[in-house]
Amino acid sequence: MRLVLLGPPGAGKGTQAANIVEAFQIPHISTGDIFRKNLKENTPLGLKAKEYMDKGLLVPDELVVDLVQDRLAQEDCKAGFMLDGFPRTVVQAEALDRVLADMDMDLSAVLNIEVDQDLLLKRITGRRICRSCGATYHVEFNPPAKEGVCDLCGGELYQRDDDVEETVAKRLEVYNEQTQPLIDFYNKTGVLIDINGQQDIDKVFEDIKKALEGAK
Ligand code: AP5
Ligand code: ZN
Repeated sequence: MRLVLLGPPGAGKGTQAANIVEAFQIPHISTGDIFRKNLKENTPLGLKAKEYMDKGLLVPDELVVDLVQDRLAQEDCKAGFMLDGFPRTVVQAEALDRVLADMDMDLSAVLNIEVDQDLLLKRITGRRICRSCGATYHVEFNPPAKEGVCDLCGGELYQRDDDVEETVAKRLEVYNEQTQPLIDFYNKTGVLIDINGQQDIDKVFEDIKKALEGAK
């Protein structure tokens, strides 16, 4: 299964990606997670990406495309992959087409998770992430059993630097301008599947599984 998860910030891409990769046993490739990991390790890529992420802007295409191309060339992607947060611009989508064509591959499906803008802000500002294992929670919609502590590993929960209200507003604006056009782009190739992301987390995942029945 070769999948792309599309959707605005806070739509639930990371949350559903965790379910999907477990069900289909494919690698999860989140460009946002890769940048955050690099930043934690103070690499030049991480420091460069931070300049853009903190402002709610996209990291330049050339940095992202090279990174994804290298990742897709790795052995574990031969059996499939889950791209989360990439592509995010038409330039990135065209580059992905070329990279896949070179490897004799195409996409099985592009899942477009739809959520209204007013709910997105609430979702993002209430999000908390585990510092140790990366699991995602929400203070209201998906709280851990004990406040501030990860259910899975006991790690400390934190708020992402770019999840403050001003930056979120910019990220939503950038999504509308630069990423939304990809819905048309993938609609034209017939791989786009719309998913109602405004339901419970489990119900969204049920719909995704149903939509992928019969996909290659
Ligand atoms: P990235 O890390 O990709 O962030 P994003 O796209 O803004 O998406 P989010 O992680 O905010 O949201 P999500 O859809 O994963 O939602 P989640 O599942 O956590 O990118 C960050 C930055 O990196 C970008 O701004 C950019 O600078 C850079 N970048 C990354 N990729 C790039 C690229 N390709 N090109 C250029 N720059 C790039 O859910 C959100 C919250 O809601 C959680 O708290 C969750 O618990 C809750 N929730 C989820 N689903 C539900 C539900 N069904 N009901 C109730 N609550 C729910
Ligand atoms: Zn954890």
